[in-house]
Amino acid sequence: MPAGDSFFIATPIFYVNDVPHIGHAYTEVAADVLARWHRQRGDDTWLLTGTDEHGQKILRTATSHDVTPQAWADKLVTESWKPLLETVDISNDDFIRTTDERHEKGVQRFLQKLHDDGYIYQGEFEGFYCVGCEEYKQPGDLVDGTGAFEGEQVCAIHSKPVELLKESNYFFRMSDFEQRLLDLYESQPDFVQPENVRNEIVQFVKQGLRDLSISRQTFDWGVKVPWDEEHVVYVWFDALLNYVTAIGYGVDDEQFDRRWPAVQLVGKDIARFHAVIWPAMLMAAGLPVPKAVFGHGWLLVGGEKMSKSKLTGIAPQQITDVFGADAFRYYFMRAITFGQDGNFSWEDISARYQAELANGFGNLASRVIAMITRYFDGTVPVAGELTSADLAVRETELRVTAAADAAMDRFAINEALSSIWELVDVLNGYITEQEPWALAKKDDQRERLATVLATALRGLGTLTVLLSPFMPTATRTLWEAIGQGELTSQPVDRAAEWSSAPTVQPLAAGLFPRIEQPEPAA
Ligand code: MSP
Repeated sequence: MPAGDSFFIATPIFYVNDVPHIGHAYTEVAADVLARWHRQRGDDTWLLTGTDEHGQKILRTATSHDVTPQAWADKLVTESWKPLLETVDISNDDFIRTTDERHEKGVQRFLQKLHDDGYIYQGEFEGFYCVGCEEYKQPGDLVDGTGAFEGEQVCAIHSKPVELLKESNYFFRMSDFEQRLLDLYESQPDFVQPENVRNEIVQFVKQGLRDLSISRQTFDWGVKVPWDEEHVVYVWFDALLNYVTAIGYGVDDEQFDRRWPAVQLVGKDIARFHAVIWPAMLMAAGLPVPKAVFGHGWLLVGGEKMSKSKLTGIAPQQITDVFGADAFRYYFMRAITFGQDGNFSWEDISARYQAELANGFGNLASRVIAMITRYFDGTVPVAGELTSADLAVRETELRVTAAADAAMDRFAINEALSSIWELVDVLNGYITEQEPWALAKKDDQRERLATVLATALRGLGTLTVLLSPFMPTATRTLWEAIGQGELTSQPVDRAAEWSSAPTVQPLAAGLFPRIEQPEPAA
């Protein structure tokens, strides 16, 4: 994708029935790293996130706490979900709540259009509903319960019994879109990514699509169906529309045309909603489908999908309090292949923090700056004639920049980081081999010393630019010591072209301080 294009990326909107855990923060960080990368290469970037506040799940949680669902949602958004964005340093451009007036009006506008155009009809429905998923389940989605639910059929995701519902509902003619969806997956093979999620979606649609029940009548916590106020809109139909109501669907065509279509990042558990129902809804409304739907893997703790209900939930702040937001972001983007499940452990994050951040990158930065300060009074030295070793560093800078940029275009976030880390390793190896401390002892090696430190500093600056979308705080501190202008204005796809200040400033402390605290048990 050439720089300057529109890049609208959206996270799923999060249920406010509970507080965030690191699985939620993982989605946020991945979207934020992609957004910062695109923003820093000059794309017209927009990062959207928000909260999903309607439906039975939230209503029941609020009722069990003796408050109204609106009061419950307000509390969770203010006390937990918005603070999450600060905890892990998210640079979102907007935050949408499904209780926002702009959203509710947009949902009604969209639904009315589908109704007017003949895509909605009324019918009877009977089926098994999982309130945890907010979804009707097919018999094949259920498994035998264990423990307290022995002898019952339970939802395979939540391990809780489903409820038999029988209602008069409104339906969306989703089955009309079966062939068009299959054609979409065929003609745009990267519409659903990665490959395993795509295959699952194609298989699912090939088995045949049924019409979708899109309203509920037995409770009223939702957007009212515009032509029949006895019904509220099904929570997923409502929630999916946030991606367009947030950018002015039906009220601000200029903003809408500038942003849409989006890149959608979702957990693989909700890929079906985004890769089947959502494009069918958009097709019915005559709107373009998303550019891509990427279904990432799950964070596992002790081998199981982490969740609050299974008591394996870890609050993001438990980790950032020990390691900081930059290390949190780095760790999850580096240690887990984006698109696959990955296990979290305190031992692993501690080991990577020490080896890769403190010793690898942090130490490199301190050493280069300290040597320029000591041997050249802080004035950035000018390189003389370049040897093949110096040229190899330069070549690595250019190569990893191109590789990382290409990897980010493929959502291969962890590959981008490992490419960038080649430069950390090459620079550390270069300094060890060139031994600037030995050159400094010989008067006739002054020019060589200048060349080595100038080369190392150039590499360090390139690293700073490349790592800024991943670790905005540490790189900003480092940039203040070596760079000129705003770090985020340095084009990330041309990182090696960065401009250094005439002098370097000593770093007051290491970028990644030693962690003295004992590790909390997972
Ligand atoms: N509200 C719906 C999404 C509506 S989007 C129109 C929802 N919310 S959620 O809060 O349950 O989940 C939000 C996101 O967090 C999903 O992408 C989900 O996959 C992700 N995660 C929840 N637990 C997770 C892990 N353990 N690991 C990784 N991501 C996880 O679904």
